[in-house]
Amino acid sequence: MKKFLAFAMSLAMVFSLAACNSGGSSASNASEDSTSAAGSSEAGAPAGSSGGDLITVGFAQVGHESDWRTASTNSVQAAFSKDKGFDLQFVDCDNNSAKQLEAVRNFIQQGVDYIVIDPIVSTGWDTVLTEAQSAGIPVIVIDRTIDDSDKYVSWVGSEFTNEGLAAGAWLKAYAEKKGIKEINALVIEGTTGSSAQIGRTNGFKKYADANGWKILDSQSGNFTQDGGQSVMESYCKSYQGKFNVVVCQNDNEAFGAEDAMNAAGVKYGIDGDVVLISFDACKAGLKEVLSGKINADFQCNPLQGPFCADIISKLAAGQTVEKKTYMKEPWYVSEDVLTDISYTNNAGNDVTEPLIHVTQDVVDKAY
Ligand code: AHR
Repeated sequence: MKKFLAFAMSLAMVFSLAACNSGGSSASNASEDSTSAAGSSEAGAPAGSSGGDLITVGFAQVGHESDWRTASTNSVQAAFSKDKGFDLQFVDCDNNSAKQLEAVRNFIQQGVDYIVIDPIVSTGWDTVLTEAQSAGIPVIVIDRTIDDSDKYVSWVGSEFTNEGLAAGAWLKAYAEKKGIKEINALVIEGTTGSSAQIGRTNGFKKYADANGWKILDSQSGNFTQDGGQSVMESYCKSYQGKFNVVVCQNDNEAFGAEDAMNAAGVKYGIDGDVVLISFDACKAGLKEVLSGKINADFQCNPLQGPFCADIISKLAAGQTVEKKTYMKEPWYVSEDVLTDISYTNNAGNDVTEPLIHVTQDVVDKAY
């Protein structure tokens, strides 16, 4: 009961402060919103419902669709180990939104201390978050955003629109440098309705619209290698000889697209006829950048586990936390022809950000 009252107070603080802070998203790579939430468990004495002195945390993970997702799962599991004072219940939701809602409802029924959600899609959340709120269980969101409800205490993740804008800004500068006059792009999108797909699509499209680039087609590859391959196979048939840019919204789709282009005899990468752009910058993706097959890779940082564990530890100790925290995300390129890109980010700020030329050392240090 004490836990419920504390949580209700924390939400009241969140909502009243959020109202004061409405209307501003901040620059990328920085935490935003002074909005904070007071602790939701008894201060300094987190009592796990089933884990003794451990803090019980239920994590509804998206699935296992990509290298990025594996890195994300590893990061959360390492940060919420028993050694660190947590009892983590992990559910792989297999990219199935109904399964994810069910997992969250099961956590509520079990009475875990905290729920962590990486939302497959960005909408359809308000009812279940209201249920968690009524049960006095604070929800922390990681990676993707929930856009139809504010009933979570804190979020840590990526500025996906900035990733798309950065890809557009890089392509514009690269095309100018290389004398590429026309852009005819094919896009392989991520999971439809996920904030990662929505942000990257919108950010890149903004550049396409502003610069008269043609987006010949844009279909979902569901963030998987198989999806990327089958979409690219059909693009190779429908748009043979008509495209010079392929944008894959994650590395695994890019690997699939490479397989399809190899089979169709399409030359891509720094020595090819097609510029290949990707997102995530996992180790396997950066290897492709190093070999010149992927021209540019825009990082989506999956190492959110420690940030999330820190948020929960602070809440358990009755401390305040940020409402939103953005991960730091660098941009990687294959050729050393541009040093940085300048663009107006999603918060409306003009930024200049460095491009990292990928070397073996960069690959070795990647996740
Ligand atoms: O939400 C992050 C995205 O989801 C990553 O780009 C992708 O690899 C993953 O599946």
